[in-house]
Amino acid sequence: MLLPDRLPSPLIPGLALTALAPMQDVTDLFFMTVIAHYGSPDYFFTEYFRVHESSTPDKKILRSIIENTTDRPIFAQMIGESIPDLVRIAKELSRYPIAGIDLNMGCPAPRIYRKNVGGGLLRDLEKVDRILGKLRESVTGLLTVKMRIGFENTDNFDALLNLINQHNIDLLSLHGRTVKEMYHGTVHYNLIAHAVERVNCPVLANGNVTSAPTAAAILAETGAAGVMIGRSAIRNPWIFQQVRQHLSGQPIARITLADVRDYIDRLSNTTMALTVPRRAQVSYMKMYLNYIAQSVDPAGGFLREMRLAQTDEALYGVCDRYLLSNPHQEFSLEPYPGLVARPNCEVVRELAVAIVNR
Ligand SMILES: Cc1cc2nc3c(=O)[nH]c(=O)nc-3n(C[C@H](O)[C@H](O)[C@H](O)COP(=O)(O)O)c2cc1C
Repeated sequence: MLLPDRLPSPLIPGLALTALAPMQDVTDLFFMTVIAHYGSPDYFFTEYFRVHESSTPDKKILRSIIENTTDRPIFAQMIGESIPDLVRIAKELSRYPIAGIDLNMGCPAPRIYRKNVGGGLLRDLEKVDRILGKLRESVTGLLTVKMRIGFENTDNFDALLNLINQHNIDLLSLHGRTVKEMYHGTVHYNLIAHAVERVNCPVLANGNVTSAPTAAAILAETGAAGVMIGRSAIRNPWIFQQVRQHLSGQPIARITLADVRDYIDRLSNTTMALTVPRRAQVSYMKMYLNYIAQSVDPAGGFLREMRLAQTDEALYGVCDRYLLSNPHQEFSLEPYPGLVARPNCEVVRELAVAIVNR
């Protein structure tokens, strides 16, 4: 697909686009820098800036824009429903070096959608119409949307796609699940293909893009302009480079378990990791290791043992044992079947408490 001139140029013109999916508490400045070390995507997206009456842009998220050293464009994502405040924050964010403003219409967390923001907006077409209309009027640069195929079902899907056209949205990132389907189960790539046919802007296919060969298959099935990758980029930060290699007919770089051990070191040495309160550091690293573990050993021994580790020493001991005893062994391109990355609620809660109390 020919990209409109308005979109920033990709790393390799003519090749399908890649983007790192926004992931709250994961895709911060430091994680993006680690990703860039292994091969940037064409585009980055920030975690969402919460927008409401008294909100100002979150300073930590702003850092991922201001201190972005990846050389790749970054879109600033907002979540909210108050139109004057969305317009106010969009204008404020536009003063920073961003590629564009992205609106989150997909977040499936009940505490979010119950406020009629994120995925909650998909239930209210009239509101979506007004929000996109006002944002389009006031954002002079690119205005992009990230959404799902519906809330409970896909009854509103075509009407939503019409609104994307009506308000001249510049890029649509589409997660091929409903809000109620959360992150599990089948991704409806046929509906992504339908959107590609129907909208006037490029579409990034999102949802379970797990490897370079999978990306190629999803691109072929949907006709999308590119892929947006989330969890599999945490598991395998080489994935964007591998997608480019595969799509341009080169062999996919082989990653070894020793390379993965180096990646873990890099994650544990980011400023963020080093400033997480000491008692929460193990939990912080487990958040990443949950995903990485899906490609280490098919039996899930690494996943089980790292989850049991309570101290730095124990955790890195497990990493060394599984990753360095057979360092040349290949890190699987795909997650092994049956291994579920579930950075459990306890880990996330413990982290949040530790960070707030810091
Ligand atoms: C930990 C986590 C945090 C997320 N935070 C956001 C977010 O801030 N904004 C957003 O639009 N989507 C968010 N998502 C959804 C992802 O961007 C993406 O749509 C989803 O994970 C499906 O893509 P994947 O299968 O490649 O992971 C988040 C997902 C995860 C797993």
